Amino acid sequence: MTHTLIYPHTTVHNAAGHLEIGGCDVVDLAREFGTPLFIYDEQTLRDQCRAYRATFGKLTDLYEIVYASKAFSCRAMAELVAQEGLSLDVATGGELAAARAAGFPARRIYFHGNNKSVAEIELGLDCGIGHFVVDSFEEIDRLEAAAATRGVRQEVLVRVTPGVRPHTHDFVQTGQQDSKFGFGLSDGLAAEAVSRLRDAPHLGLVGIHAHIGSQIFELDSYRREVEVLFVALDEWRRDFGFECCIFNIGGGLGIRYTEADMPSSIAEFAHVSVTAVRAGVERHGMVMPKLFVEPGRSIAGKAAVTAYTVGTVKVIPGVRTYVAVDGGMSDNLRPMLYDSRYEAMLANKAEAPATDVVTIAGKHCESGDVLVRDVYVAPPQPGDILVTPATGAYGYAMANNYNAQPRPAVVMVAGGRARLIIERETWDDVLRLQRPLA
Ligand SMILES: Cc1ncc(COP(=O)(O)O)c(C=O)c1O
Repeated sequence: MTHTLIYPHTTVHNAAGHLEIGGCDVVDLAREFGTPLFIYDEQTLRDQCRAYRATFGKLTDLYEIVYASKAFSCRAMAELVAQEGLSLDVATGGELAAARAAGFPARRIYFHGNNKSVAEIELGLDCGIGHFVVDSFEEIDRLEAAAATRGVRQEVLVRVTPGVRPHTHDFVQTGQQDSKFGFGLSDGLAAEAVSRLRDAPHLGLVGIHAHIGSQIFELDSYRREVEVLFVALDEWRRDFGFECCIFNIGGGLGIRYTEADMPSSIAEFAHVSVTAVRAGVERHGMVMPKLFVEPGRSIAGKAAVTAYTVGTVKVIPGVRTYVAVDGGMSDNLRPMLYDSRYEAMLANKAEAPATDVVTIAGKHCESGDVLVRDVYVAPPQPGDILVTPATGAYGYAMANNYNAQPRPAVVMVAGGRARLIIERETWDDVLRLQRPLA
């Protein structure tokens, strides 16, 4: 039996009745690398990168796929993304450092962030990144000053908030007017930013960027976003003589976390966005810009599962059964932040019928530390290896040391081989930066 809907593409049940990913038995991986363990399937990551390039490439030559590294950022991931010919978006100096450590081509890096520090701006300039996505008036001044000091001219995009609200969780909506990101269109701040950028001698404004939110299922929001942006571009061409070469509509395509989720496909996303941009070009009589998209979740999300060891099984008669695992909100914050729903299964009992309804709890000192509520699994016992699928995006990326819990290890599996790409933290690692009072 295979689980391709929410599990990595290479997932099967093997002869031992265990879950197998990338030719590796998940129970063996848990034994070898310990738990909690993030297991990334290299094939699924590459398939997703290729699906983006193939589907957009079928519709237009004028496109670029920029992987949003915030979904899962590390050296190995940046290397893989470079090999697949995608560009990279970074949101902090730390994500930029990971890209640099991987030798990621600097020209293909896009630097986001609503509050870039001077040190981050200087790092970006000094390593020659392709574009800054300018987010505030302060950044325009700081970037202009730093570029002038270096005698360089830096290409930039301007980040605008188009006032489009997709149907998704409030905390992952970013394109509405009341947002900490970017310059608003309706309040005139975006036009003011374009004007200032056009006057900045060391900055070259080459395009616009907007991102309306994340885990978006209905694609009409993208069509509305593109329409709104074209109206603005028309005005800015008239008022400032600005011609847009790069038209970046952000990321946000949703994925399936449970069998019941019905996200749109990459092909549908490509069709809607390319068609909308063509329509905008025709309506406003513009030159076709290069369309950029910035997927994170839809590349990394389905590629990984998290494996945990079951520690306790607490049956409250007539109420519920809590199955506690050795991780929780320190390796997956999404259920607590967004009420996100996950599935679960026991990797060592992959063939056993899922007859028991249980709630998967973490090990943290917090009642809200619940990973999955009311999910069917095979009868659980301490020592079982419990897996939650679709944890490849914003899982490890948001991992933290709550309760001084060391962050998990991450392996990449392919062809029966597992490579450790991020080591497990130890208690000593957690203590390393602490100093005594005396
Ligand atoms: C500017 C920007 N681009 C791209 C993304 C990636 O979004 P997703 O992972 O939902 O595709 C995000 C995520 O929040 C973002 O803020």
